[in-house]
Amino acid sequence: MNAKPLNPRSPDWDIDSMFTDRWSPRALASDPLSNREVRTLFEAARWAPSCYNEQPWLFVYATAPEQRQKLAACLAAKNQTWAGHAPLLMFILARRHFQKTGKENRHAPYDAGAAWMALALQARKLGLYAHAMAGFNLQKAYEVLGVSPEEFLVMAAIAVGRKTEDSGLPDDLRAMESPNSRKPHAEVATPVFPVVTPP
Ligand SMILES: Cc1cc2nc3c(=O)[nH]c(=O)nc-3n(C[C@H](O)[C@H](O)[C@H](O)COP(=O)(O)O)c2cc1C
Repeated sequence: MNAKPLNPRSPDWDIDSMFTDRWSPRALASDPLSNREVRTLFEAARWAPSCYNEQPWLFVYATAPEQRQKLAACLAAKNQTWAGHAPLLMFILARRHFQKTGKENRHAPYDAGAAWMALALQARKLGLYAHAMAGFNLQKAYEVLGVSPEEFLVMAAIAVGRKTEDSGLPDDLRAMESPNSRKPHAEVATPVFPVVTPP
């Protein structure tokens, strides 16, 4: 037997395993999540840091089949094949302007990213996986979500569920179904002087 190791990722430096244990499988079971699990995910995201503590993110989510179908219909065809039956489907939005001052908040996408990561890490603590998607029809998403492009950026769709081995994934996606690696440290972090631009 040459079974794949559970997680073949090997960090260059000793870090908490929560970072390498989070990855984005597509083989998600359709088994429903409990209300407690759903609530726990959004509670983790709620504590993400943000510019002026604005918390500019908004998760618009669906667990009921009819509502999930509406969100799934916004996804690119390829993403629909695997995310369409995930028990929790959502979009993460970022509010374009500060609610107090009305001024543009150019950091909103950054903050929404922090909230997504908190949700994704919390998902693993619950034995779940969260998989973000940029592959969706933006115009359709605005229509289905009923929000205005002047008020919100639609940052990503996110599918959450339990991983399954029995997924019925198409062959090309099945071939990608294992944790991937990363650029070397020197390509993504550099001492300030002299600045070395990676090739
Ligand atoms: C903003 C964003 C958009 C993504 N879009 C898609 C997508 O449309 N379809 C998909 O299958 N995966 C998508 N991914 C998953 C990435 O391919 C994945 O996160 C990346 O390869 C790193 O792998 P890991 O999450 O397993 O560590 C997206 C991830 C992010 C953060």
